[in-house]
Amino acid sequence: MSKINILDEATINKIAAGEVIERPSSVVKELVENSLDANATQIIIEIKKSGKDLIKVTDNGDGMPKEDALLAFKRHTTSKINHSDDLFNINTLGFRGEALASIASVSHTTLITKERNSVAGFHMDVIGGIMKYSQERGCPSGTTIEVKDLFFNTPARKKFMKTETNELRHIIDIVTRYALINKDTSFKLTHNNNTIIQSDGNQNLLNNIASIYGNEIAQDLLKVDYKDNKIKIAGYISKPSQTRTDKSQQSIYINNRYVKSTTVSDALYDAYHSLLFVNRHPVCILNIDIDPEQIDVNVHPNKSIIKFEQTDEIYNSVLEAAKQVLEENNLIVDSDIKTEESQMKFSEMSQVQDMDFLVKPTKYQFEPSKQTLLSEDKQTEHKAAKVIEASRKFPRMKLLGQINKTFFVAETDDGMMLIDQHVVEERVLYEKFMAQHIQGRTAKQALLDKEIIEVTPEETTFLNASLRDIEELGFEIEHFGDNTFLVRSVPVIFKRIQTKELLKDIITTTGKRNKVKEIKEEIITRMACRASIKAGDTVSIQEMEKLIRELTECRLPYTCPHGRPIFIKITADELEKKFKRK
Ligand SMILES: Nc1ncnc2c1ncn2[C@@H]1O[C@H](COP(=O)(O)OP(=O)(O)O)[C@@H](O)[C@H]1O
Ligand SMILES: [Mg+2]
Repeated sequence: MSKINILDEATINKIAAGEVIERPSSVVKELVENSLDANATQIIIEIKKSGKDLIKVTDNGDGMPKEDALLAFKRHTTSKINHSDDLFNINTLGFRGEALASIASVSHTTLITKERNSVAGFHMDVIGGIMKYSQERGCPSGTTIEVKDLFFNTPARKKFMKTETNELRHIIDIVTRYALINKDTSFKLTHNNNTIIQSDGNQNLLNNIASIYGNEIAQDLLKVDYKDNKIKIAGYISKPSQTRTDKSQQSIYINNRYVKSTTVSDALYDAYHSLLFVNRHPVCILNIDIDPEQIDVNVHPNKSIIKFEQTDEIYNSVLEAAKQVLEENNLIVDSDIKTEESQMKFSEMSQVQDMDFLVKPTKYQFEPSKQTLLSEDKQTEHKAAKVIEASRKFPRMKLLGQINKTFFVAETDDGMMLIDQHVVEERVLYEKFMAQHIQGRTAKQALLDKEIIEVTPEETTFLNASLRDIEELGFEIEHFGDNTFLVRSVPVIFKRIQTKELLKDIITTTGKRNKVKEIKEEIITRMACRASIKAGDTVSIQEMEKLIRELTECRLPYTCPHGRPIFIKITADELEKKFKRK
């Protein structure tokens, strides 16, 4: 007896809906994408009870003629592709022709649509995938789709929906993503008649971002405008001092499609390498324009994952684009900035510092600045001029003295600068050492009195296994019998540190579980930290000047390798306001 049935269309659509329409926000996403594909310049999204009662999307786009409207709710019906070849050259957000069919199969859906040049529009009602009513009627140009009673015939899915707040959060999220990047389209999202998002359309990208995220975030964004022979990257990224506690304000788009891409986000984080405080995340709104033939969107029914033909090239371009911006802009923190960071208490900071593996291993190869390479061996000479000259990244300044044996104070052309003495040197030592290290030329200094250190048996095994890696860091050590090691030389740059302390530190940092190689950079940043002047150390003006000159030669002279700021700028203007002169 035969057992195999051919499923009817309503059932097939319901099955597809399981993949495409996961929750109310998936409906919003598909409808908004359709409106954008229909060239709408105005999209209104009305939600009631987080989409459980109503999802209504109205656009002023191209609309549909009656014949198309009747087809649109069938499965595999689309106006966006024709041949299978088109799948490799997709220029629209939709192409699978299953969203409307899926939505209509699990809800009560109403469509009202009219093309610009038609006199009459068309209205149809579909319940659970079955057409119940259709009629020509007068209506404005564009398309309105109303979705009610979502998942009424799929009880399990309905029960699976999370709390209303959670569903609403997802809806706001997806509308935000599309509103951010579509600067020429006005978006309005309401929930139970309250306006949640409103953007104007006809704006430049930055103003558009400001209308959604607010001025405070927008004003501190850095513009990305990059082009190579394969791709164009445009948008905004945040200054390292204006980061967030999570990744929710990172939006990555490929050809204006909002996507999740680890390739792009890895490249972004690597560009911020050594500038970000632990657990901080940059803001980004970045669109990557790429030949559609170079990507595959057809990886998942919801189209939010993209496969790149050339992953490495994309990674490199994004890294380059973001790095250029971070290197070209002056990233000095303003004193009036109200970031969560600057409000972070010192106790929290030191707690964070004790955490292991602050420096995540990345693909990113440290690049020394040209000046660091040039001045490699000669000491920065002490110039007679007391004013440190400005550069693109660096304001002109004159050092005045020290406060609380912790901060340097400098006068600048438009005010003053406070400089954390410890953090300055950390950055300088880190970049100098990295420059030597990646060229395989770590300068060593022989100890006059060779040091013998004693460790535990377990540590002996670890050290013996790591001798070569430790040597690469500039130490010459050898096993001296039993649980002792003889240290012959140490890295010149870190000579101020006690050898014993340092090696013990390497042992504990690796936690005996990891290989020295894997956490080399963390070890280097620790060495830089240990070898740097501390709060409480007296520093002469000459020493300050030497340090700041060395800092001007750094590639990223703004933070310690863990992301703590070096400078805080206070303008004369701000001071005048504080003194009520203005
Ligand atoms: N808002 C809209 N305005 C104009 N046409 C639309 C709109 N929404 C859907 N359509 C038409 O209905 C078709 C089917 O939509 P959909 O099921 O989302 O598939 P896809 O977007 O993948 O083509 C689209 O190809 C388009 O022609
Ligand atoms: Mg679609």
